[in-house]
Amino acid sequence: MERLQKYLAHAGVASRRTCEELITAGKVKVNGQVVREMGVKIDPSTDVVEVSGKLIEAREEKVYILLNKPKGYVTTLRDPQGRPKVVDLLKDVGKRVYPVGRLDFDTEGLLIMTNDGETTYALTHPKHEIGKTYIALVNGLPDRDKLKRFQKGLRLADGLTAPAKVKFLKKQGSNALLEIKVYEGRNRQVRRMCETIGHPVLQLKRVAMGFLDLDGLETGKYRHLTPSEVKKLKELVLKSV
Ligand code: URA
Repeated sequence: MERLQKYLAHAGVASRRTCEELITAGKVKVNGQVVREMGVKIDPSTDVVEVSGKLIEAREEKVYILLNKPKGYVTTLRDPQGRPKVVDLLKDVGKRVYPVGRLDFDTEGLLIMTNDGETTYALTHPKHEIGKTYIALVNGLPDRDKLKRFQKGLRLADGLTAPAKVKFLKKQGSNALLEIKVYEGRNRQVRRMCETIGHPVLQLKRVAMGFLDLDGLETGKYRHLTPSEVKKLKELVLKSV
């Protein structure tokens, strides 16, 4: 709950003093009723506030978090099975933030979380999905021809994938470590691509998204993006949606 004049000032209507004058002048309505008294409290998440007939929306400070997600966490905000959630790792953020895209329960690595819906929409828009780089430990040793299929596009149940880049990094016993860069965000995409070439994923980690990587960030830890990172991220996507 927040005092009406404070809410209006935070929403950028005018200074606190002027907002008080607007209230006294009968220009402010809460849920359709004119409010003239000072000190009325409102709930910004449910009450409808208007000034001179114009709807006022709370201006919430935007936060942009880069999390190194551990395995064994869901990226959804609710889980019917009661499994650990990534938001539990962000208790100190003090704001409700949402994942940009998703990572599977068993996948670890880079996840952006934000309360900026417009940027989330743009970042996940199929028109310009930004490149996401994964390190995948796959079962067995895929040969060159199989890896070429990533570049050509693989036929999955939901259609042909866009060309992806793949590099054979090294052998790990009888398995292979691959670097895979995809430009789409389909559900379980990397796992399904690897399965389609006959080399199922054993471990998966997202190590980069566009120009962002996990450098210096331990598993389970997060940091705020810098203002210049936020600017760059928005420039990448917002112009063209
Ligand atoms: N592809 C997958 O298969 N899983 C992820 O979590 C991310 C990409």
